[in-house]
Amino acid sequence: MKKLSAITMVLLVGIFGINTACSDDDWEDRIRYSTGVKLLENPVYKKECGDCHMAYHPGLLPAASWQKLMAGLEDHFDDNAELDKELAQQITQFLLDNSADKSDYRRSRHFRNMAREKVVIRITELPYFIHEHDEIPARLVSGNKEVNSFSHCNACHKKAEQASFREHDIFIPGYGKWDD
Ligand code: HEC
Ligand code: HEC
Repeated sequence: MKKLSAITMVLLVGIFGINTACSDDDWEDRIRYSTGVKLLENPVYKKECGDCHMAYHPGLLPAASWQKLMAGLEDHFDDNAELDKELAQQITQFLLDNSADKSDYRRSRHFRNMAREKVVIRITELPYFIHEHDEIPARLVSGNKEVNSFSHCNACHKKAEQASFREHDIFIPGYGKWDD
């Protein structure tokens, strides 16, 4: 009896030990794969493009959109976001290499497949984005001081910075969890 429970203990510790050691990251990755986009670390990009808003993940826009956006930084939505040439080139390359066109993550596939008609430089103007957000009333977005506009993904998607957009992690300030 004593021997058996000792073995059981060792087995349990083994199973749970291994699980907690590696499953968290795997789990997050799997969620991202189906409800988000690829998470990439790029400190230069984060520094240059993550000051005024969250550094939008490259997998949220098709390559043609990134190209067009990066070619017009001096007039960037009424702001000046111009960078020196070398830096701009480096960031453009990073965005093109990892754009929605290059990713097989499910949300990237949606963003690119529904974007064939014309080149927009806003994620929020992509047909797939509009399709996913058209039931949210304006009072929760433009009429909501804690959100202001759809461009602030991380105001509602609590794991937007980690590239995860699943419904479970949506919380609209002043409204709460989203159940559709
Ligand atoms: C000086 C501030 C500033 C900097 C720096 C900046 N942006 Fe922006 N960006 C803005 C503003 C303002 C908007 C419009 C937000 C809104 O409409 O609420 C915007 C919007 C965007 C959007 C469209 C979001 C949407 O609505 O779908 C993208 C994409 C974007 N920026 C990418 C970048 C990239 C890439 C860089 C770095 C090269 C960058 N931004 C640097 C101010 C900035
Ligand atoms: C005002 C809050 C709000 C903002 C801001 C917002 N979203 Fe959402 N988003 C939602 C809600 C609510 C849903 C779920 C809609 C539904 O399924 O009915 C959603 C759904 C999504 C989905 C689909 C998720 C899934 O797996 O079904 C994606 C992807 C997404 N949003 C990306 C973005 C991105 C990228 C931005 C910023 C450019 C953004 N959202 C800004 C509220 C928001």
